[in-house]
Amino acid sequence: MGQAAQKFCKLEIKTLLEVLNQAYAEEWLAYYQYWIGAQIISGPMRVEIQSEFMKHAKEELEHAEKLADRIIQLGGKPLLKPEEWMQHARCAYEVPHNDFVMALLEQNLDSERCAIATYQHICDMCFDKDYETFHIAREILHDELDHEQDWEDFIKDLEEGGEFFKK
Ligand SMILES: [Fe+2]
Ligand SMILES: [Fe+2]
Ligand SMILES: [Fe+2]
Repeated sequence: MGQAAQKFCKLEIKTLLEVLNQAYAEEWLAYYQYWIGAQIISGPMRVEIQSEFMKHAKEELEHAEKLADRIIQLGGKPLLKPEEWMQHARCAYEVPHNDFVMALLEQNLDSERCAIATYQHICDMCFDKDYETFHIAREILHDELDHEQDWEDFIKDLEEGGEFFKK
């Protein structure tokens, strides 16, 4: 617990911790959504997309770690039970019922757009009130924007492949 960390935060700590735990829950769900997607994926460009799923999974886990560190500095506790992830996350966990590449890409694109909204919100909250949390959220936002772009590009490539690639 960082005494100065809490002293200099100009937001209500309880509210900030709730938002950070929400994002933390979303990162774990995003991690699993990518990880399980990489296991079950089928269809064209499978190997390429599978390795990008694993790369994103690793990055989502790193985001969870950054958030956990900051939650602890601010005197909070990262969610302790996996069942709390579903309760706290605002971005839905998208169940990959359809393992076809296009279906998985579209689910993950939606999830990334939701993640972008989460970090935009945290940046707005913290901008001139908590520099360190702002910095962390800005760094994560940068990655989520990259993730969104990746899926937009892959979807475009597949669509250009024509009817064959439709889910
Ligand atoms: Fe993330
Ligand atoms: Fe992401
Ligand atoms: Fe990527």
